[in-house]
Amino acid sequence: MEITKAEFVVSNSDVKKCPPPDRHEYAFIGRSNVGKSSLINMLTNRKDLAKTAAKPGKTQLINHFLMNEEWYMVDLPGYGYARTSKSSRGQFEKMIRDYILKRENLVCLFVLIDSRHEPLRIDLEFMEWLGENGVPFVMIFTKADKLTATQRVSCIDNYHRVMLDTWETTPLAFITSSEKRLGREEVLDYIDELNHTVKI
Ligand code: GTP
Ligand code: MG
Repeated sequence: MEITKAEFVVSNSDVKKCPPPDRHEYAFIGRSNVGKSSLINMLTNRKDLAKTAAKPGKTQLINHFLMNEEWYMVDLPGYGYARTSKSSRGQFEKMIRDYILKRENLVCLFVLIDSRHEPLRIDLEFMEWLGENGVPFVMIFTKADKLTATQRVSCIDNYHRVMLDTWETTPLAFITSSEKRLGREEVLDYIDELNHTVKI
């Protein structure tokens, strides 16, 4: 699939104010700074559609983008970023949790994981929470340009090994680099397949 048109629709802090849930929707989540907004720009061939930054905590709202006038991509704030106050962190996490649990047209959540690290507890616990709540998700390993080919393979293997302690099967995983435009076709083809097979 190619994306021929990508438009920003709306940003907001409340799932109830999101656009009507009448189209397929795919959202990108993961720790702050993992590369969610950069991945959306890479997938859409746009430099600055989603705002990125070198410092964590850039994306603060639920951002809807309409693709090919047909389906939505959603850029979410990251989790795990130590904000100035505990209450603002709590509010952020509530916004993300509400969106994930209540957004009825969310077909698949892409959980982004920094391929440079060993499996992190915060990511494993987040995915366990998704599993407990029956949220469909796949993993996307980011920043693969920082790894050798061998390291890329062992990064996925490490995750699978750790996850099989608690999961019967492991989720599908893509390996990407927004810098090198790696994994683009694979992710877009997966979305295209879901657009054609999942009913909203
Ligand atoms: P928040 O909105 O703060 O949660 O962050 P985010 O997950 O949206 O990350 P963002 O896309 O803003 O990128 C964070 C930093 O990582 C930026 O400095 C990007 O340039 C860098 N980055 C993102 N993707 C890649 C990649 O594939 N390779 C490399 N080397 N750097 C990347
Ligand atoms: Mg962002």
